[in-house]
Amino acid sequence: MINDLMNDVSRVLCTQQQLKAEVKRLGIEISRDYEGRQPILVSVLKGAFVFMADLVREITVPCTIDFMSVSSYGSSTESSGRVKIIKDLDTNIENRDVIIVEDILDSGVTLSKLIELLKSRNPSSLAVCTLFDKPDRRKAYVAVDYRGITVPDEFVVGYGLDYDEKYRNLPDLCVLKPEIYTK
Ligand code: IMP
Ligand code: MG
Repeated sequence: MINDLMNDVSRVLCTQQQLKAEVKRLGIEISRDYEGRQPILVSVLKGAFVFMADLVREITVPCTIDFMSVSSYGSSTESSGRVKIIKDLDTNIENRDVIIVEDILDSGVTLSKLIELLKSRNPSSLAVCTLFDKPDRRKAYVAVDYRGITVPDEFVVGYGLDYDEKYRNLPDLCVLKPEIYTK
């Protein structure tokens, strides 16, 4: 099955071994910075679910997790930090140390709005951790506290990231053949 999916891929960008090492590095950094605290990791569904699962196992301080599902709301000219919440957090984050866990930072539009929304709930602190960063396509500024791997401006899948809900189960981060999404 995985071999069938690999037919749609032009090349492997990061192997599972590289990803494991990178996630470990991020976990060590977070564990060091949050010594003595109990952060809550907030992940945006669905793409970050694999990263979240691996990252928590590299974090050595006590932490909790929660999930959110959002979609951009209104036109791009809208200046208010509004996102449409499909699934909200179960946890009250007031006075909590929150770390947003993202799969890939692309235009930054969704994440910048989500940051505004979560800040309005008065957490003690709010940090952003993204495994992949595609800086060429940034439209909205996002301050990143923990950054994994910078990727070129190509469509990538695997390790939780999808195209049309497929390829999330590929263990490596792969570049999708353009003919797959242009046909
Ligand atoms: P943006 O930063 O608001 O543009 O949205 C980022 C989201 O778009 C990510 O969390 C992913 O879900 C999705 N995304 C962006 N680039 C890619 C990609 O190359 N492959 C798969 N999903 C992507
Ligand atoms: Mg995402």
